[in-house]
Amino acid sequence: NRCHSRLKQLHGQQVTVHTPPNITGHWVSNSCEVRPGPEFLTRSYRFFPDGSFQALQFYYQDPDCSKPSYSLLIRGSVRPLRASWLVRGGTASEVHVSRVQLRCLQTACDPPDTPAPDRSMQELTLMRLELRAEELFLGDVHTEHAQPAGYQSPLRSAKAERCGVCRIVSSADLHHPPVLSARPERPVRLQGDWVSTRCEVRPGVLFLTRQLTFHEDSQTWTGQYEHFSDPVCRHPTFSISASGRYSRGAPSAAIGGAVQFTFTVTHMTVTPMDVATTSLLNVFRGRECGSEGSWQRGVPQDVTSTSGCAALGVRLPHTEYELFRAGQDPSGHSLLYNGQRPSDGSSPDRPERRPTSFQPPLIRCSRGGREREQPFRLSAGGGSNALHTLAAALVLLHTLM
Ligand SMILES: *[C@@H]1O[C@H](CO)[C@@H](O)[C@H](O)[C@H]1NC(C)=O
Repeated sequence: NRCHSRLKQLHGQQVTVHTPPNITGHWVSNSCEVRPGPEFLTRSYRFFPDGSFQALQFYYQDPDCSKPSYSLLIRGSVRPLRASWLVRGGTASEVHVSRVQLRCLQTACDPPDTPAPDRSMQELTLMRLELRAEELFLGDVHTEHAQPAGYQSPLRSAKAERCGVCRIVSSADLHHPPVLSARPERPVRLQGDWVSTRCEVRPGVLFLTRQLTFHEDSQTWTGQYEHFSDPVCRHPTFSISASGRYSRGAPSAAIGGAVQFTFTVTHMTVTPMDVATTSLLNVFRGRECGSEGSWQRGVPQDVTSTSGCAALGVRLPHTEYELFRAGQDPSGHSLLYNGQRPSDGSSPDRPERRPTSFQPPLIRCSRGGREREQPFRLSAGGGSNALHTLAAALVLLHTLM
């Protein structure tokens, strides 16, 4: 499979992480970001050697960040405390916000509760600094107001080369927001093979890579989810293969260019990849998750016949309400974004729970050499499907034992 070489590179990559991170410097968005809501924003954060910071957040009316609505200047201080207990590889920090200034950039402003001092900088309570590509990962922001349990798309150093958006964002101030250009809408086409662009992190201390294949003519999909115990995806714990059907729905009213989909999971296979996960699966009694006591390391088992893994809260068939969006990376490769999962580990199994923001993108695997093979560039890190619940439950058990 043509996704394999990408995945192999991803699993073997060298990542330099500094703990505790010295985040002194100027960090900026390299694209228009979408948060649950949806909210559209760009960020420009300055951290000083004495621990103080000045964080600019610019909010927009549109998903291209071309129509500014208001900006916030948040001042305060941040102090790294210790390794995060929630997300391995992350650093937990203490944040103190001293002042929030709001500047309205249109006739009427209706800022959500983000400017509340206790919320505005909660993202700083979790951070990770990867030096290879100079990327600063800050905690994710949820509608549920939960503590960060994953990351937003990373900020880049304002000095990063070949980053046009970084330059625009870094020169903006409270009164002069960055205005990005409206992009032509890219049609959402799922057809083909897609793979993660980095080792992704999920709430519940999960690390994984995803590989998804869509067949538009038969409206079927397959997914391969490799789970790992470490933040650079080197030590596999278990893998899940899932497949099912999907149907395309209406264009999203909330996010221009995005399209609603409905997914069902009808088949699922689980493969324990280490001793700990194998023994865990063997603990389950009766016909709850594959056949009782029969799990072996490296041997896949179909859990379709037991309607999924009841012990782990995964029932088949399972339906999810999705949101997809198309994109492009700086080298012109096609990217595919699907919906961010709720931070409580549940799944969007009702239309009203449909996501309003996105996971890190999947990249299209090159087509048998027709697309020019680029050196693999790692960017943002992101999400899964029904499978998320299963994964979270497994990890929870890991922690308990
Ligand atoms: C962090 O880096 C800055 C320069 O980027 C330096 O001035 C500062 O002393 C460093 N802080 C620590 C604690 O190493």
